[in-house]
Amino acid sequence: MTTAQAQKRVYNFSAGPAVLPVPVLKEVQEEMMCLPGAGASILEISHRSKNFEEIIESARQNIRDLLDLPEGYHVLFLQGGASTQFSMIPMNFHSPNSQAHYVRCGAWSVKAIKEAKRVGPVNVIWDGEPHGYKTMPTQEVFEGVKSGSYVHMTSNETIEGVEFPYDPKTTGVPLVCDASSDFLHRKLDVKNYSLLYAGAQKNVGPAGATIVVMSDEFLQKQVGENLPTMLDYKMMAKKESMYNTPPAFSIYVIEKVTRWLKEDVGGLDAIYERNLAKAKVLYDVIDQSEGFYRGHAAPEYRSLMNVTFRLPSEDLEKTFLAESAKNDFSGLKGHRDVGGLRASIYNAFPADGVDALADFMKDFQKRNG
Ligand SMILES: Cc1ncc(COP(=O)(O)O)c(C=O)c1O
Repeated sequence: MTTAQAQKRVYNFSAGPAVLPVPVLKEVQEEMMCLPGAGASILEISHRSKNFEEIIESARQNIRDLLDLPEGYHVLFLQGGASTQFSMIPMNFHSPNSQAHYVRCGAWSVKAIKEAKRVGPVNVIWDGEPHGYKTMPTQEVFEGVKSGSYVHMTSNETIEGVEFPYDPKTTGVPLVCDASSDFLHRKLDVKNYSLLYAGAQKNVGPAGATIVVMSDEFLQKQVGENLPTMLDYKMMAKKESMYNTPPAFSIYVIEKVTRWLKEDVGGLDAIYERNLAKAKVLYDVIDQSEGFYRGHAAPEYRSLMNVTFRLPSEDLEKTFLAESAKNDFSGLKGHRDVGGLRASIYNAFPADGVDALADFMKDFQKRNG
């Protein structure tokens, strides 16, 4: 492989870790030998240094600004991925004498439910499994919950490519949301949520940090006792994510991605417009293909982040993948649990890459339809 080939960037449709904004990567590259003012790189300096304190504070502030976060919310950067949140949430807020309510809308919520059951009873308030995880529940489902530890939802199911098109609202019971694969892709009615969490590696940065946005009111409802320190939200909030060494590099890149989103893109309404337009290009190809491409999600619940679809046969899917790789598209293989194809087009994914894939799909159909 020549150096030029080795350095060529492809259109990266990976579901995560995923594409990052090119200006951010360039800045990281420029600062890699020496973080301005630090005399060393971000990989080498103390997390207790002034330089790092400024970075983590700025990352936190960017998230506050983007979400227009009301007073009384904590922004935490934790470790262990979103999967650790599956355990941490019930350990802190659930107990054997209460019910935790879960929306079962895809593979990730199934995993969240499994962990919650270790702590106490789980009530599945809506189950998408019998219909193959193609839709999401309506607002009425959330209103039906009158008591319990919390209601847990997954705003975007990354594997199936189904997404809530609205912000659900509960009546009195705290709402907890796994937003790992669509965090900061549009404005949210944040006040509806008591806790939002997201592994950074899809829409906001590299793997390593998990962002948790939680209301102090919810934090005060903590019931878990004698928790391991690292799994105790109260301790993490008290120490502002600095009880131990935080995932410094991930937080550093998150600071840049959120600044890019705020200043270069123009905020969440602007990125939402971009995301709507990008997703429309691919869904239009699917809808106009007369059944050659079959979208997995019901149209109303189609994800703007993960476009999942099938071809008429598995053989054709293999050919599609092989040819797409030759056209410099990577990461289009669907998750092994559902098969087919998946184009993940997060915030940083470029519009020209979506257009290129749409052209490729149309051409592929012409040749194989
Ligand atoms: C919706 C959702 N939740 C949770 C996870 C698990 O995240 P992590 O790998 O950070 O534990 C993922 C990862 O793909 C995801 O897409």
